[in-house]
Amino acid sequence: MDYFDVINERHSIRAYGNKPIDADSLQKILEALDRAPSAGNLQAYEVYVVADESCKRALVKASGDQEFLAQASVVLVFCSHAARSKVRYAERGTSLYCVQDATIACTFAMLAAAALGLSTVWVGAFDEDEVREIVHAPQGHRPVAMLPIGYAAEEPRLRPRRKLNDLVHQVW
Ligand SMILES: Cc1cc2nc3c(=O)[nH]c(=O)nc-3n(C[C@H](O)[C@H](O)[C@H](O)COP(=O)(O)O)c2cc1C
Repeated sequence: MDYFDVINERHSIRAYGNKPIDADSLQKILEALDRAPSAGNLQAYEVYVVADESCKRALVKASGDQEFLAQASVVLVFCSHAARSKVRYAERGTSLYCVQDATIACTFAMLAAAALGLSTVWVGAFDEDEVREIVHAPQGHRPVAMLPIGYAAEEPRLRPRRKLNDLVHQVW
């Protein structure tokens, strides 16, 4: 799919069918996120791939009963890894760059999934400590976003956006 078709056609999906995503598609998504830019190319993030049913159910509970997490074929959990960024960027690395690194990678994964005809929704509302325990991540890995991936079982709904002249500010 053309890049502009991907970004115009991607929508959040919160209901997934039973069909699992194939290993090749998952690999392509993982390779795409690995191409994301990061501060100093340090890639200060880690990605946990959750396919196990009981782990997905635990993620539902950790996210205030967002049931669609259990329906997804796979859930990617993006964690910032502050120590990787601290080495070069100190406080700015730990408070900002590592989170940006993780979320850009999540965006790359989201768009790659859309290009493959798969559906996702960005999930940011969850208990970080619970999610960290579910994926067996160490303290230094902070869960910042989750991305369920699967086949849509609902019609995508086009959400409105702010007008460009409201959010774009020309600087003279
Ligand atoms: C930082 C962030 C956190 C979000 N958290 C959640 C969430 O916890 N649960 C959810 O259903 N959607 C969540 N969303 C998805 C947004 O609701 C959705 O992207 C937005 O309404 C625009 O709709 P669209 O993705 O279909 O264009 C989140 C999106 C972002 C970027």
